[in-house]
Amino acid sequence: MASRLLLCPPRFYGVAYVINPWMEGNVGRTDDTEAMEQWEALRTALVDRAAIEIIEPAPGLPDMPFTANAGLVLDDVFVPARFRVPQRRPETRHFVEWFRQRGLRVVELPGQGSFEGEGDALVQPGQRLLWGGYGVRTSLDAHRQLAELLGIDVVPLRLVDERFYHLDTCFCPLPGGRVFYYPDAFDTESLERIAARVPPERRFEVAADDALRFACNAIVLDGAVVTNFASAALAERLRAWGHEPVVCPLGQFILAGGAAKCLALQLDHPGARTRTRPVSEIRERTVEVQGDLLDTGLMNALLDRITEGGGDFEIEVFRPGLRHDQASLARVRVIAPSPRRLDAILAQMIQAGARVAEDERDARLEAVAQEGVAPADFYSTTIFPTDVRVRGRWVRATGQRMDAVLVVEESAEPRVACRLIRDLRRGELIVCGVEGVRTEGMHAPHALETFGFMTADTSSERRVELAVERIAWEMRRVRERGGKIVVVASPVVIHTGGGPHLAGLVARGYVQALLGGNGLAAHDIEQAMFGTSLGVDLKRGLNVEGGHRNHLMAINLVRAHGGIAQAVAAGAVRSGVMYECVRHDVPFALAGSIRDDGPLPDTIVDLIAAQAAYARLIEGADMILMLASMLHSIGVGNMTPAGVRLICVDISPAVVTKLADRGSVESTGIVTDVGLFLNLLAAALEG
Ligand SMILES: NC(=O)c1ccc[n+]([C@@H]2O[C@H](COP(=O)([O-])OP(=O)(O)OC[C@H]3O[C@@H](n4cnc5c(N)ncnc54)[C@H](O)[C@@H]3O)[C@@H](O)[C@H]2O)c1
Repeated sequence: MASRLLLCPPRFYGVAYVINPWMEGNVGRTDDTEAMEQWEALRTALVDRAAIEIIEPAPGLPDMPFTANAGLVLDDVFVPARFRVPQRRPETRHFVEWFRQRGLRVVELPGQGSFEGEGDALVQPGQRLLWGGYGVRTSLDAHRQLAELLGIDVVPLRLVDERFYHLDTCFCPLPGGRVFYYPDAFDTESLERIAARVPPERRFEVAADDALRFACNAIVLDGAVVTNFASAALAERLRAWGHEPVVCPLGQFILAGGAAKCLALQLDHPGARTRTRPVSEIRERTVEVQGDLLDTGLMNALLDRITEGGGDFEIEVFRPGLRHDQASLARVRVIAPSPRRLDAILAQMIQAGARVAEDERDARLEAVAQEGVAPADFYSTTIFPTDVRVRGRWVRATGQRMDAVLVVEESAEPRVACRLIRDLRRGELIVCGVEGVRTEGMHAPHALETFGFMTADTSSERRVELAVERIAWEMRRVRERGGKIVVVASPVVIHTGGGPHLAGLVARGYVQALLGGNGLAAHDIEQAMFGTSLGVDLKRGLNVEGGHRNHLMAINLVRAHGGIAQAVAAGAVRSGVMYECVRHDVPFALAGSIRDDGPLPDTIVDLIAAQAAYARLIEGADMILMLASMLHSIGVGNMTPAGVRLICVDISPAVVTKLADRGSVESTGIVTDVGLFLNLLAAALEG
């Protein structure tokens, strides 16, 4: 509830630049006379209910009438804005001067963070509580500073829609601990924060109709709410709460993205006078990261993780590598709206290779209380080498894989291992939170190479050929040094005529393990027996009469022999991928799925056993070829630590990106038909 308001006549008002989505297309379009009339009408509506003070406008500062953004007044202190947008910065000087002359203490907010006054800092009437908008204009750090400076409880609310760029465009606190607001302007956690402070009967969610007409941008006076618009539903609710909605059309100001509240700065906050110990959930930590931050795009990726995670940052140090072979270093202060958010953001940053800078601490360990269930805030692993600090020493985790937890054995020689949640035993110690965890910085989020073949012009065809030649060269080298190549393949390999080429690779010693599902083996054996794949004659490309039964007959026959190896030994299967695997002792694992026919006796239908079989075969791999199998390839990717060369081939660019973009340098994605790829690869390996 305001009793004194500061207004600024719109003598020099206009839309002169674009700094929010409302201004777009409106430069030079305001009508001076109508704007002045609307403003006068607003002043008249206010004057009976509050004391109005006036600051003279300055020429060249068209947004100065939006006094709410000038700063925040609390007790005898004026905290001036630090505008994010340069166009509005010159306004501050005029407001500072005005408040100085009236004997208020002008206290600049410490730090560097931007702060746009009451636009993003709304006092709950009658309480020492400040709702702090951030995410578009005001920084989260500013709210942390405000809490300290003013001794006030600050609840940060993140704005996620640029049209609601200030908190006062979508949120309005009312006396009696009530609020009305537009929920779609906030992220989920902010809505939870509102709900935690305001019981359901004291809050009202307005619809888009209200929000887009600046209904929330209201001035709350004794018994009245002055606003540009109020729908029937909102008006009814306001009346039920004892406020008369007073509608003042302010269309001229909406052209610049402001309405009633924007045009008035509250000069006192009766009832919010008692200073409290500042309580704010906002937390911060400093992290350091070193590496190819610029050319790999890692720096951008890290900063994005902070803002997308609902946090804010300040780069304290940035030392770019000045030569191609020199690493860059950054020290970044991460600010988050709550301790929980901070942990979540830090976990992501640590997973990307950053380290918490200050006072190194041991990892926090919690014992497993229930078999196969991790403590709630377990740290989850990535594919990157991970160290855990145990009694002052960094210990490298073994069995690195994604989506595992870190189990610590606290013996004289502490040990750390990655373990799946389902395998946890009661009493085992698990790393929780992000303290004392670091990962090896070998990340390069944009280093992923992808080559389009079917998708673009002929020049990219040549690029795919070159990429295949390079892969063939690598495969030859792996084979020469006795290394391990694992192939993950789907039945598409067979349908597209790639079967004989893959069989050839197995026969020539280029495949040390084969991973797939029932479909791969079923259609491969179908082809070996009938020359068809899913009933299509692969030589002629024609449907064979009754051919859809062929794969069932193949499965049936293998079942009759008791398994693939037995069927090969008996001479029932005489060619194909599976045949060559059996003949050359190349181990394979076939994982079952809901859509399997049969299945073949070799197909492992116990999911956990199938995952274990895959993991065993991946161990020690130098290279993995993922051939047109989204399901199995994703499974394999999660089990594979960074450092293993991955080649992903799929017709769908989205699948290739998903599979190959592991944030590490060793992936190559190829968007092409897998049959063509295998054809080219086989030819390149012959050559
Ligand atoms: N008869 C059967 O028992 C049978 C038949 C088929 C699949 N399955 C089972 O279903 C599960 C999933 O099968 P999946 O791995 O085939 O499916 P998937 O959807 O996981 O992967 C198929 C991938 O192939 C890609 N693709 C399609 N055409 C392509 C082409 N010409 N070139 C390159 N890429 C191409 C798709 O984009 C997709 O990413 C497996 O367990 C499999 O064994 C069983």
